[in-house]
Amino acid sequence: MLKRIGDDELIQLLELEPKGRGRRHQILLRAGSYFSYSRGKVAHDDIIGVEEGATVNSSLGDPLLVLRPTLGEYISEMRKGSQVLYAKDIAAILILADIFPGARVLEAGTGSGALTIALLRAVCSDGEVISYERRSEFQEIAVRNIETFFGKMRSAGGSAGKLILKQGDVYEGIDECELDRVILDVSEPWRALHSVEHALRPGGILVCYVPTVLQIYKLSRRMELRYERSFRVMGIYEVGVREWEIKGRSMRPQHRAIVHTGFIFVARRLYS
Ligand SMILES: C[S@@+](CC[C@H](N)C(=O)[O-])C[C@H]1O[C@@H](n2cnc3c(N)ncnc32)[C@H](O)[C@@H]1O
Repeated sequence: MLKRIGDDELIQLLELEPKGRGRRHQILLRAGSYFSYSRGKVAHDDIIGVEEGATVNSSLGDPLLVLRPTLGEYISEMRKGSQVLYAKDIAAILILADIFPGARVLEAGTGSGALTIALLRAVCSDGEVISYERRSEFQEIAVRNIETFFGKMRSAGGSAGKLILKQGDVYEGIDECELDRVILDVSEPWRALHSVEHALRPGGILVCYVPTVLQIYKLSRRMELRYERSFRVMGIYEVGVREWEIKGRSMRPQHRAIVHTGFIFVARRLYS
């Protein structure tokens, strides 16, 4: 059971006026500080101690809803170095890779850490996430994002897995073996297949995420030509999300939708 909103906690304020605008602000609460925006200001002390879901008023009388951010909301606001995975793709990857509590998962590259955070939460305290990234400046951003999520968000849950960050090139080899899952979000995943073949246990799942048709074609061809005895391709997917709005008798999809962002390629390691 989550407690009342506390000091030093990352929370989200949702503007309730004007109706339908719903702008969100993520803030780190600090006793004695103020949050200012275009419609007035609010003392952090007025937020500390309220129940999640309560409403506070700005100095100009505008209501703001106090909520803890979801993982998806946190990811959309967090600092980015590299392009991060969209929440819709992260959701699908967690299911298609069948990430379970206690799993040993390797991912590359860490990027800004969006997928790393989701994996750490899904593998729970008995699990382990090993994350390769070749650029130190991205690794630093990821570390800050991961620390903020698990350190400042009560909704993060208290049972994250063990994290091992590695600065290195996944194309040059993988040190680990007997992995349950491997997730590759790098531009040429076919260059890591030889290493994954040795690192993934029989029955383990490989998921690759690539944005373009040429990449998915090259990955599929390489699997077919060189790895037929080691992997079985289970499917190639893309996920589209279209929001709907309902206002009185007007019910319709929104004009904009997030459709193609990338292909999710899933294969299983065979016993060979
Ligand atoms: C698209 S980003 C990953 C985003 C990440 N999944 C996230 O959700 O924040 C790709 C990352 O892979 C890294 N990368 C590319 N090739 C790599 C390689 N061979 N080994 C390790 N990291 C690599 C890049 O530096 C970049 O940070």
